[in-house]
Amino acid sequence: MAKAPDNFWIAARQATALTRLRKSRPKNIFKGQVQYDKSEISGVSTVRMTVIPQGASLPQSHAIDETANVNFTRLKKPPALFALNWQKETESRWTLHWSLDSAEQCWGLGERYGGLNLRGRTHTLFATDDDLHIESSDPLYKCIPLLLVQSAGGTYGVFLDSPAPQFWDLDSERNGTANVRLLSRRAWSVYWFARSTLPEIVAAYTKLTGRCSLPARWSLGHQQSRWSYSTERAVRDIAAEYRNRKIPCDTVVLDIDYMQDYRVFTVSQERFPRFERLVSDLGRLGFRVVTIVDPGVKRSAQDATFREGRRMAAFCTTSDGSLFVGQVWPGASCLPDFMKREVRVWWGDKLDFLLSRGIAGIWNDMNEPALFGNQRPLKANAQELPEDADQLFLQYDIDGEIGHFEVRNTYGQQMARATHEALRKVRPDERPFVLTRSGYAGIQRYAAVWLGDNKSWFEHLRLSIPMLLNVSLSGVAFCGVDIGGFGESTDAELLIRWYQLGIFYPFCRNHCALNGRPQEPWSFGPATEQAIRRLLHVRYQLLPYFERLFVEHRESGAPPMRPLAWHYPDDLTARQLDDQFMLGPDLLVAPILQRGKTRRPVYLPDGHWFKFDGGSQVAGGRFHDVEYEMDSVPAFVRGGAILPIAGAVQHTGQLPTAPITFRCYGNRARGRYWQDDGATFGYERAEYNDWTLTLNRGRFSAKCVHNGFASPARRYFYEAAGHRYPLKNLAGSNTD
Ligand code: GLC
Repeated sequence: MAKAPDNFWIAARQATALTRLRKSRPKNIFKGQVQYDKSEISGVSTVRMTVIPQGASLPQSHAIDETANVNFTRLKKPPALFALNWQKETESRWTLHWSLDSAEQCWGLGERYGGLNLRGRTHTLFATDDDLHIESSDPLYKCIPLLLVQSAGGTYGVFLDSPAPQFWDLDSERNGTANVRLLSRRAWSVYWFARSTLPEIVAAYTKLTGRCSLPARWSLGHQQSRWSYSTERAVRDIAAEYRNRKIPCDTVVLDIDYMQDYRVFTVSQERFPRFERLVSDLGRLGFRVVTIVDPGVKRSAQDATFREGRRMAAFCTTSDGSLFVGQVWPGASCLPDFMKREVRVWWGDKLDFLLSRGIAGIWNDMNEPALFGNQRPLKANAQELPEDADQLFLQYDIDGEIGHFEVRNTYGQQMARATHEALRKVRPDERPFVLTRSGYAGIQRYAAVWLGDNKSWFEHLRLSIPMLLNVSLSGVAFCGVDIGGFGESTDAELLIRWYQLGIFYPFCRNHCALNGRPQEPWSFGPATEQAIRRLLHVRYQLLPYFERLFVEHRESGAPPMRPLAWHYPDDLTARQLDDQFMLGPDLLVAPILQRGKTRRPVYLPDGHWFKFDGGSQVAGGRFHDVEYEMDSVPAFVRGGAILPIAGAVQHTGQLPTAPITFRCYGNRARGRYWQDDGATFGYERAEYNDWTLTLNRGRFSAKCVHNGFASPARRYFYEAAGHRYPLKNLAGSNTD
């Protein structure tokens, strides 16, 4: 008898398991209204199901970009492509379930600790400040309920638009089912993006939830942070070291110690007596200053922000009407309810305290919100949602009071929104920079993100790749982790290895905790410093390429960091890899991720490739054993690409006049070069230049497809087959 294929047995087991599951599920007690709508979003057939329990009002989405104008049409019944089953099991518990094919991988869901494929585990979405990131860390700070189900046959997406607690069991029983438990008493929606390609699904999702605007060029540069540079002297010294040692850097970040007793909207008079002067002096050296702003407002009649906030009922209250008070850095503190529009406006106006002193960008931290001694206010395996009155505190929605847990996942989002809107109001034509730790679906409209308190461990270096890939696929293009690691102490080897990878993070910041050993690039002697200097120069050389990638993100939703399968969907080996990634279409990054190693296997997909550091062509379609020196750039360039490489600079202020070399890889190559002022929204008024670059049998040409920006004079070259040639002109017309 012929042997049944493996798939047969898997399918049979799956069918039995599904039948068993269906029988064992409690019955559906739902009463209310269900609506189905459909739309074609960026070419992807999308079905939205909205579930409105009796007595509840229509859901208010915090995720959808209202400016996107996606139109839906009502359907009479669920269409065939909507493969999701659901039921209301108890007064506050819902389940959603569907089947997963054996070959399907699960990606997305925002910030998850672990590898790229999320299948085989349960993932909790309930914003949490957890400073020990280990295998059982679930949840973390950000909650983005978008799942991408990926296989060689294509990708489909499921987006559950509800900021209430959710538990996504992605086949942990190995029976081929995905099960989501949602704890809520309110209406919710789910979007089903029908099977397409991975880039198409991400395009559709980001069309719906928004894309980040082009980052300010300075914010793409290197940022130096520390908890804390706690005196003016310390800040000036750091800036001076950078310039004296000629290590590129654009930003110094001030953590909580710039404040008086950690009180928001204050500056310590003792430690920062000439704060404005400090900021302007640093500005003259080409530095921007970013300050941390946490949500907790010290409960103290002496504190002006507290007094104002109390007067205008800005703070979250408990069910008996008293102020909710929790412990954070300033001690007993109250939390603004950023769900209220007037609170967001008030908070935005308060930010003027920093903005009027020349602060360039704002870092929102602790906005899960974190509360010392109560970081996990909901049981890890909760089956029911507590009553509103027992959800820590109440917030205020369009429908009136609401339990905090129902909307907890948007707390950080609303704070980042208030901050973003304030920056747009105060500096209407300046690209804002906001960094946030917590966020929900659509956070990319307001802020860049970093992944919180990692540690100076090789394990965290390694995991930063898959974790940032999942964040990127969840719509958040501008992301990074603390280079060098936040907690514990780094060492020379780890710091160099981290910079080898970190120069390719969209958000590139060195940050470290109070007790750790200093980890500025010069902290481990001249050899380490030299290696990092070189790596940071490469970061700045690549900034024109980064800028182009963000333009492409605006156009199509594509994040700069992508899994290999984004470009090589039919390559089964590429699909399995999450220790290397694509940075845009042209760079493959494959760094050393283990202590003591100097070699690693690097998989190059079909085609031919070139080591970023130079050398002859390398064949694709197989693994290579690659050796990396301590100052090597662990990346390969796709044969056929043209990269715009900027000349050496110390900060982005010098970039507009730095020479550009179009480095061509192979005999026939194509590229794109984008140019704008890197600072304003001029690009939305067509003030940019866009060039198509071609190399054809040694002949280079640059075709201007859009000419709207008068760029400062700079020199241009192209480089082909190891030689560099000057270009006469690149302004306005075609160039040969
Ligand atoms: C939190 C942040 C960290 C910051 C610290 C002090 O732990 O995640 O980045 O340095 O608070 O503000």
